[in-house]
Amino acid sequence: MNREHSIALLNQAVADELAAVHQYMYFHIHLDDQGFAPLAALFKQTAIQEMGHVEALSERILFLKGDAELTAAGAVEKITEPVEMLAKAMAMEEGSARDYNLWALECGKNADAASKQLFEKLIHDEEGHFDAFEKQRDNIQRFGPNYLALQSFGVTAGHGA
Ligand SMILES: [Fe+2]
Ligand SMILES: [Fe+2]
Repeated sequence: MNREHSIALLNQAVADELAAVHQYMYFHIHLDDQGFAPLAALFKQTAIQEMGHVEALSERILFLKGDAELTAAGAVEKITEPVEMLAKAMAMEEGSARDYNLWALECGKNADAASKQLFEKLIHDEEGHFDAFEKQRDNIQRFGPNYLALQSFGVTAGHGA
């Protein structure tokens, strides 16, 4: 096994995961500010799961005697419109699943089964995230722009009770 090769792939994944944490927290605070509590909560919950991915990848990097770079792959995009947020998030999840599929194969070729399995586990999670975001996007398209406001009504009313 070429440790450096696996460490480089794992660090690339850490950078993408951190970019997702930052982007989703940006979406969370803006949706919360706009009063869309359920969608805000979905982004917060997903950001926390992406942080768990950062942790799992970093642990693997340290096991391989590398160091976790913990630098985000890119800057946060200042998107504040919910449908555009969901489009951006779906593209990020799709990109991660595509990359992790390729990197799982790379790790397999590199005789690093544990890193391969980690990438495979993450693919499953990212596909789940994509699915959750797509459902929200579909609902907005199906029920119109009032969907998010109506979805928030019970939650907001509940807060006041
Ligand atoms: Fe992730
Ligand atoms: Fe994800």
